[in-house]
Amino acid sequence: MSKLPASVAAPAQADELTNSALAGLRRTPKQLSPVWFYDELGSTLFDSICELPEYYVTRTEMQIMQDHSAEMAQALGPRVALIEYGSGSSLKTRLLLDKLQDLASYVPIDISRDYLLEAAGSLARDYPALQIIPVVADFTQPFDLPTQIAAAQRRVVYFPGSTLGNFERPQAVRVLGGMRTIIGRRGAVLIGIDLKKDPRVLERAYDDAAGITARFNLNALRHMNRELGADFDLTAFEHRALWVEEQNRIEMHLVSKRDQIVHLGDEEVAIGRNEHLRTECCHKYTLEGFADLAAEADLAVVRVWTDAERQFSVQLLEPRGIQ
Ligand code: AVJ
Repeated sequence: MSKLPASVAAPAQADELTNSALAGLRRTPKQLSPVWFYDELGSTLFDSICELPEYYVTRTEMQIMQDHSAEMAQALGPRVALIEYGSGSSLKTRLLLDKLQDLASYVPIDISRDYLLEAAGSLARDYPALQIIPVVADFTQPFDLPTQIAAAQRRVVYFPGSTLGNFERPQAVRVLGGMRTIIGRRGAVLIGIDLKKDPRVLERAYDDAAGITARFNLNALRHMNRELGADFDLTAFEHRALWVEEQNRIEMHLVSKRDQIVHLGDEEVAIGRNEHLRTECCHKYTLEGFADLAAEADLAVVRVWTDAERQFSVQLLEPRGIQ
């Protein structure tokens, strides 16, 4: 793994994290960032979520990749520099890597250095000829691409998992706009987008019978206790998933079972009985709705692959005006 050069951003300071957590808790409704889900336990719980019978997302996207990765590779063309947002240990990426012709380089981007290097290391073992250039960065902020990516290669951003759905519209447009900048005039984006469907299906997908998603949601509090020295009582909150039609999104909440005071930094945060902390928003799109969003970032949808039930989509985007 020592062969792999990684550009390293300074880790966020603990008091910066505390301040932004407090800012979220001062809002109405109170909000926590979904980044708190993902410590080691949270990542393991998320892997379990991906295998749940109710969580159709991962399975369906995987099936679409299995059925269509050859076509996707053909649409992307030869000598691609594949830039993955959110990094790739994933089987989906491998399906694509296997099909891309004369792949020039693979640039996984992730905010977690350890996770990134582990994923890149495992890919390096399986693809010894592939130039892998991991970049530690937060893709919601501007970042530099490694200079090894020659201008002649077609730059393609791959963003699977429907993670774009976590962002509210203005930020989603900014993230897409960042991709548009990175790929240049001749590049492309291949992105997994979850589609709007029966709210009962969605609520079950985010509130499973085995209670794994509930543990995943509550783990955000455990993570904040450990990392920020907060004192959330995990037994005093209840998991809730609810569909909000006006916003086209499923929201995950933690509902307080009683009046309580939580200590964070130098502050006391009062949380009332039945008060909700919103921990995540997962936007779901119609095909037209997503095309409008992409257009705001100067990207046009040029191909859409879906499953037979139209639950999920993988979409190919290109800069507008070059079709
Ligand atoms: C990783 C953001 C795509 O929104 O479906 C799964 C996270 N949250 N179950 C999603 C998640 C609850 C997931 N993403």
